Amino acid sequence: MNKFIIQGGKKLKGEVEISGFKNAAVAILPASILAEGKVVIENLPNISDTRTLLKILESMNATVIPLGNNTVSIEPAKMKECKAEHDMASGLRASYYFLGAGLGRFHKAKVAYPGGCHIGSRPIDQHIKGFEALGAKVKIEQGMISVQARELKGAKIYLDVVSVGATINIMLAAVKAKGQTIIENAAKEPHIVDVANFLNAMGAKVKGAGTDTIKIQGVKKLGGCEHAIIPDQIEAGTYMIAAAATRGEVLIKNVIPKHLESITAKLIEMDVTIDENGDEIRVKASKRTKSADIKTLVYPGFPTDLQQPMSSLLAISEGTGSITENIFEGRFKHVNELKRMGASIRVEGKVAIIEGVKKLSPATVKASDLRAGAALIIAALSTKGTTEIYEVEHILRGYDRIEEKLQNLGAKIELAEDKEADK
Ligand code: EPZ
Repeated sequence: MNKFIIQGGKKLKGEVEISGFKNAAVAILPASILAEGKVVIENLPNISDTRTLLKILESMNATVIPLGNNTVSIEPAKMKECKAEHDMASGLRASYYFLGAGLGRFHKAKVAYPGGCHIGSRPIDQHIKGFEALGAKVKIEQGMISVQARELKGAKIYLDVVSVGATINIMLAAVKAKGQTIIENAAKEPHIVDVANFLNAMGAKVKGAGTDTIKIQGVKKLGGCEHAIIPDQIEAGTYMIAAAATRGEVLIKNVIPKHLESITAKLIEMDVTIDENGDEIRVKASKRTKSADIKTLVYPGFPTDLQQPMSSLLAISEGTGSITENIFEGRFKHVNELKRMGASIRVEGKVAIIEGVKKLSPATVKASDLRAGAALIIAALSTKGTTEIYEVEHILRGYDRIEEKLQNLGAKIELAEDKEADK
């Protein structure tokens, strides 16, 4: 187990390059097994989730060749089946994309029941509803999910809940189904569009990704392709918030400003100066931010993945703000850790009321999940003194070289071994 040791109180200054989008990459890697040819994926973030998925692909006899510069080649031709049973798969939620991709390629797949961040119950009923509508049988036993179909036939599927995962998983199973599939009430996040573009580069016929109705015309064969993953809007938003929390000035490079509109608008409302210029965004906060109210919504609303980092900024902003978490029912585990640092936060159901304090105090805290960990890093950076953050494995799952990127911005942060935990 490792920990971050942070000497906070320094303004972040300089430039940071955003990596490829984790939540696109963790869908595109499993989707690559649909290709009957070589797939080359560029701008792959170097995080433990992608490294795990590449290991799972190799365990299924796909040939994985790292080409350097965040590029990997995957040749799935030698695969005979799609089975991700080992505990590696149960460690991350995205392993469930092997169900849709395995159905599309082999009409069969077996995957360990998904794990991932503990931010709520995270059911998969909509994924199952989609697979069954396409003609698959789904079995859940002994911690494994098995899907199998004699034949996959296109269907009209209305999602009861707007689900990113279910939208993507159904797309992966439908691209080679017979006939047309229509997904209604589909998720519209940028990574849905990225996955659809990847599938279309292989020869799939996916239309309407990015809207709430996606139409997929099944094809017989999908070939190899080359694809560069879009920049990570959540990573970018995290650095934007960190720049504001340390009253610094940071140029954030390799972004798509459109994907960041809700965060940019909220930060401007809080008196942060934001200049967009092509694929770069400059964030500057010379004084204490004003508080604000945030409601998480599906895209293009304020993303649930940034409410935790934002709560650290609200904790030191002027006035009382609130965060209403409308997507996940258990996404306030970071609040107690922030309170140990002197934050004044009250959680009532799905609303966190945050009374800004002048400054937080350093403490020893623990990351409960990926974005909670990011929130604690921001809180630690914002105040003088030494903060230790334990269980950073959660953070390393989703932020590519975060300590190096922060060090380049002037932060005093180091990754150290937590000797206690390893006893
Ligand atoms: C994806 O999770 C992301 N993870 C999450 O990011 C992100 O918070 C979430 O989308 C929302 O944007 C990955 O892409 C790997 P959902 P996912 O299905 O697909 C309910 C991060 O920090 N639901 O859109 O699991 C669900 O309980 C992670 O990077 C059902 O009821 O999210 C939730 O309330 C955390 N039934 C809502 O829908 C289902 O079958 C949205 O979930 C599926 C979901």
